[in-house]
Amino acid sequence: MFGYEMVLPMNTGAEGVETALKLARKWGYEKKKIPKNEAIIVSCCGCFHGRTLAVISMSCDNEATRGFGPLVPGHIKVDFGDAVALEKIFKEHGDRIAGFLFEPIQGEAGILGKALGGGVIPVSAVLADKDVMLCIRPGEHGSTFGGNPLASAVAIASLDVIQEEKLAERSAHLGEELLCQLVKIKEEFPNYVKEVRGRGLFTALEFNSKSLFPVSAYDICLKMKERGVLAKPTHDTIVRLTPPLCMSRDEVKEGSKVLHDVLELDLPNMQKAKPKDSPTTATICDRCGRNLYDPSDRAL
Ligand SMILES: Cc1ncc(COP(=O)(O)O)c(C=O)c1O
Repeated sequence: MFGYEMVLPMNTGAEGVETALKLARKWGYEKKKIPKNEAIIVSCCGCFHGRTLAVISMSCDNEATRGFGPLVPGHIKVDFGDAVALEKIFKEHGDRIAGFLFEPIQGEAGILGKALGGGVIPVSAVLADKDVMLCIRPGEHGSTFGGNPLASAVAIASLDVIQEEKLAERSAHLGEELLCQLVKIKEEFPNYVKEVRGRGLFTALEFNSKSLFPVSAYDICLKMKERGVLAKPTHDTIVRLTPPLCMSRDEVKEGSKVLHDVLELDLPNMQKAKPKDSPTTATICDRCGRNLYDPSDRAL
């Protein structure tokens, strides 16, 4: 289905990523002949790959990293989508690079292990060709419940459903509708809404922090919940929407209307009611010193 020769099942998303990192390093030393303990993983600014130690060592999220040091060495960061910078890194350090870790769409918490487990069973998977996968031999890596029968059955059924019910195509079609609704909301509230963006149903709406102040994306999500829609804030100014792929076109419209009503009816009251001296969270990344949530540096 994915074009790889082998699959190594794990449980959580972070565990899958950890496994991939270990595999990349092992391949790097055995096949690429990287000198001992010098392997480098390149990862992207603003990434999210879970909460284990190796994974948070690449994080730009201070909340995820502060208080958990020392972090695992052996990383170089690159801006998401900057192919020129990535090429430069490979030219300068290519002989020691064991892998490049990135999300196809940066979501700061999103979809990987969840879709495979149908949203109910923890299961993640690492895919590789034999040349890479067999660098890890029996006893060198594993997990008690990785590949357990229930999770494996669920993963296979989940992939069948995604294919048979054409959920990826469905996400693409409904996503167009959702984006259309969000663009209308942006046009109606140009002061509040800075940008809408997305791919399929995986969408986000970014607020203008000044006009939203002192309200945060979290407050918006709480009001949306009161009106019957669950959405997740990403930092102070982004509301991310990851609706279920099985939802109907009418439900897409209903969900968008809830967001519209929160902006029209609730937001002005929230702005009046919330103290203006509410603390705001620090957004300067400890690693690269940038404000990640500036207009120029954004996650979905
Ligand atoms: C892109 C991505 N990678 C990895 C993870 C980590 O998954 P888990 O929480 O199952 O460890 C997540 C979880 O939200 C994620 O969105």
